[in-house]
Amino acid sequence: MSVETIAVGAESVYRPQYDSWLLIEALERSNAVAGRRVVDLCTGSGVVAIAAAELGAREVTALDISPGAVCSTQANALAAQVDVEVVLGSWSQAQEHGPFDVVVCNPPYVPVGPETSVGEVAATGPMVSWNGGPDGRSVLDPLCRSAAAMLAEGGSLFLVQSEFADIEQSLASLRMSGMDAKVVADQRIPFGPVLHAQMRWLRDSGRLRHGRVEEQLVVIRADKL
Ligand SMILES: C[S@@+](CC[C@H](N)C(=O)[O-])C[C@H]1O[C@@H](n2cnc3c(N)ncnc32)[C@H](O)[C@@H]1O
Repeated sequence: MSVETIAVGAESVYRPQYDSWLLIEALERSNAVAGRRVVDLCTGSGVVAIAAAELGAREVTALDISPGAVCSTQANALAAQVDVEVVLGSWSQAQEHGPFDVVVCNPPYVPVGPETSVGEVAATGPMVSWNGGPDGRSVLDPLCRSAAAMLAEGGSLFLVQSEFADIEQSLASLRMSGMDAKVVADQRIPFGPVLHAQMRWLRDSGRLRHGRVEEQLVVIRADKL
């Protein structure tokens, strides 16, 4: 089964998109996955976890706090005929299942203004999938601080995020924890419905220049030395 044919099942599950594909492409190019123990921390439909299994990972574990995402990942892994251990729970519980050779994550990273209500953005998908708090870093900050602890010696983190959630802050935090961190992939994409809904907040909080309707996504790779 090709990852392009991933089914989302419940509407409450994040539909794979630019960030999912950018992360998978970075994994494919890295040669870091075959024969390794991998964890996908915010798995959604399981698209990245399944890609890791198809790239020859020795074991794949996937976590998500959404029961719909867990069901979706189990169904997609079955259809793809790959083994993925799917766990209902927060990414922060991954350490209990580790250590891992490779940690992959497409976390919620969109900066979300205080006036945003679930009703306002209902058409743009489940808020838990993309809501990164006022600065987009509610998962990124603790994840960058604790990634090294989930990894075995010589292991690597692959993390995708937006420019609007402060790429430099992620790099600095990962380096502070003793990892060698760099951007290994980037792409400019048009604003989708989620960012259109947050444009005012992005402008008011100084993250967005007037008239700009493109977002830069990056994949950060951080190696545990
Ligand atoms: C941007 S989606 C990524 C989904 C998938 N990995 C992909 O690339 O298409 C983020 C996912 O993180 C999950 N999530 C949000 N907060 C979480 C947390 N604290 N722990 C684990 N998963 C979380 C959401 O339910 C959602 O499925």
